This record gives sequence, structure tokens and C-alpha cells, in this order.
Amino acid sequence: MPYYVSRGSVPKKRHIVHRSPSGALFHEEHISRHGFSDIYTNAYHIHPPTRVTRLGGFDPQQIVRKGEALHRHHHLKTFQFAAQSDFISGRQALLFNSDCLISTVHPVSNTERFYRNAHADEMFFVRRGQGTLVSPMGRLAFQAGDYLVIPGGTLFQLYFEGLPAELLVLEANGLIETPRRYRNAHGQLLEHAPFCERDLRVPEWMEPIDARGEFEIVVKTRDGWQTMFVQHHPFDLVGWDGYYYPWAFDIREFAPIVGKVHQPPPVHQTFQAPGLVVCSFCPRLFDFHEEAIPAPYNHSNVDSDEVLYYFEGDFMSRRGISPGSITLHPAGLPHGPHPGLYEGSIGKKETREYAVMIDTFRPLHVAQTAMQVDDARYPYSWLE
Ligand SMILES: [Fe+2]
Repeated sequence: MPYYVSRGSVPKKRHIVHRSPSGALFHEEHISRHGFSDIYTNAYHIHPPTRVTRLGGFDPQQIVRKGEALHRHHHLKTFQFAAQSDFISGRQALLFNSDCLISTVHPVSNTERFYRNAHADEMFFVRRGQGTLVSPMGRLAFQAGDYLVIPGGTLFQLYFEGLPAELLVLEANGLIETPRRYRNAHGQLLEHAPFCERDLRVPEWMEPIDARGEFEIVVKTRDGWQTMFVQHHPFDLVGWDGYYYPWAFDIREFAPIVGKVHQPPPVHQTFQAPGLVVCSFCPRLFDFHEEAIPAPYNHSNVDSDEVLYYFEGDFMSRRGISPGSITLHPAGLPHGPHPGLYEGSIGKKETREYAVMIDTFRPLHVAQTAMQVDDARYPYSWLE
């Protein structure tokens, strides 16, 4: 999505003959959004990407809502989840609504399976681990602190060096993109944006793999996982160009916007998607008014449910939070700094916190899985 990229060999025009040196015709695949009317990529395969040899099973995903009916704040200690399985099957579904599903995954093994989300854009935030995201468009190295954004319909694999890893996963039912207000009419990130195109990493070219066999693909739909097998290695692109590809952004490259007094959460916005925003809280100097209160005021963010995933450092307005904690502050309930931290922040010069926030505009449901790591005392944590 970030900008136009071209890799490998593409013909002079779209939809014309493109042949190998031996004369074999390459097979074009057009990958696009919104009925051929939004961003797209044209990719050139050695073999048609359509040759399914065998359908495997369909594994349904049933996300059960939490049993209790209480409308309350939650602190989910996701670091307590045991590491299991791989980045596809090891996910713990935590929070969801009609726009998104938020999970964590702590894989213990790599998988040779190829994976594609049929509908949702996926965003990973890597809290622990490093490795390579491999897609037909190329390789993208990642490490802790990276956001990985994989547009829906894109086949990919994640290879980890050193496991287990720990990641936050956002499945968004629409394009995950940079905030519209930070882009000019040509799509370029504006001068006042907290990051720019230089900070966005795009796939490195990888030579096509021309191999025949039986290659397992897992396609995630809204209802579960469909397994199928294709005849040729799916990473057989001789070239591609366009705007549709996986990309990465290191949270440490986010340049926070600071002010004379406390700046509201929108200054931390990093991405947008239908029905939600993603924000990055990063180390920054505090406000420079002589009587400024750096900690946030108590707030009722009407129309939003706020999800925070803590990555690193001391979070300035919270106690009892560890890296890997998720807090959910739902609409209708004010929240703010924990006792002592509001007044205690006066005179402080900087914060060293890193956290990822997802604010949804529709209410989130809490999954039963989340209750396995829920801190039932959290709603009372604002008492002296
Ligand atoms: Fe908040």
C-alpha cells in the first residue's frame, strides 16, 4: 500500500504478452481491492496460480463470547498464554467485533504451510522474535518492535529464528493503511506526518521458485481455515508491480508529536482501517508548559473501545502492567491514570514507554479465551 514498487521482470504494458527466454508464456495475476477500483498489483507467474490438486478439510473457527455479562475494564495477561503451534494455528482470539479480530500468538514452531487471509488485512506487532516474512513479492526481514502489514488475499509465510515468539495479531475487515490526513492528494506522506516513506520497508526481490509437487495452502475465511493443495510452488513470480504487497514499519521509527500541554491520542495514530485506528506510544519528551501535567487526564472516549498492548518500558499511567499485557477500556466507563501517577507525573521530563493501541469504533466482544488470562481485580485498580 505505501507506494508504487516494481520487482523482477514485468512487461512494457499491463495485460500483454510476457515470455521467458525459452518462449514460455508467463501467467499474469491481478490482485486488487474494491471491485478492481482501488490499489492493485499485477504479478507474473511461471505457472497459473489456480491449479488446485486437492481440497483438504475445513476447520471451523468458533469464537465464544465470555460467559459473564459484566461490562467492565479488562487486563489480559497474554504473557501467561503457553507458547503453542505455529503462527497460523496458535492464535488466541481475544477481542472481536464486525470490523476486526484481535489475537495474540506465541508460536513454538515454524511451518512450511502457505497462509492467506481471504478477507482481512492482517497486522502483526512483533513483541518478541525475529525472522523473515516471505511472500511471492519477496522477503521482508523483521524483528521485535516491527509492525507487519499483510493485505488480504496475499499468500505468505513467517519464518522465525529462535522460538517461541510473541506477537499481537489484528485482522481488519478492510485496508490497513496510513492515516488519510497524513497523505497529500498523491498519496505521499505529508511533512507533519510522524513517519514517511523512508521508514516503510517493502519486500526485497527473491528469485522465483519453479518447483512441481504438492504445496499446502491454508486460506482463512471468516468462519475458519480451508486447507488445499496446489501443483506448483506458489512463490513462482518472475516479477510484479503495484501498490499491493506486505510491508513493515518499526515502531522505533515513529517520531512522536509533542506539545506545550498534553497531546491527545490521535497524535500517536499510525494506521487506519475501517472501524478502527492503530496508535504507537513511543519514548518522547513531555509537555513543556511550566505547569503541564504529562499523564493523561481521566477520559471517556465515547464511541470507542480502547485496547492497549504493552511492548516495552514503564507505562507512565498504569501500575501492575507488564510487557504483553493488554488492557481493554470499553466505552461508557471513564478511565485514567492509576493512583498517584497523575500528580506524580508533574515535572517529569520524558517517558520511555512503548505500547500499541487499537481503538475500535464499534463495541468489542471479549472472547472466552481471553478470560483464561483476565485479571478480575483490574476494574478496582483505581482505588487508593
Ligand atoms: Fe485511554
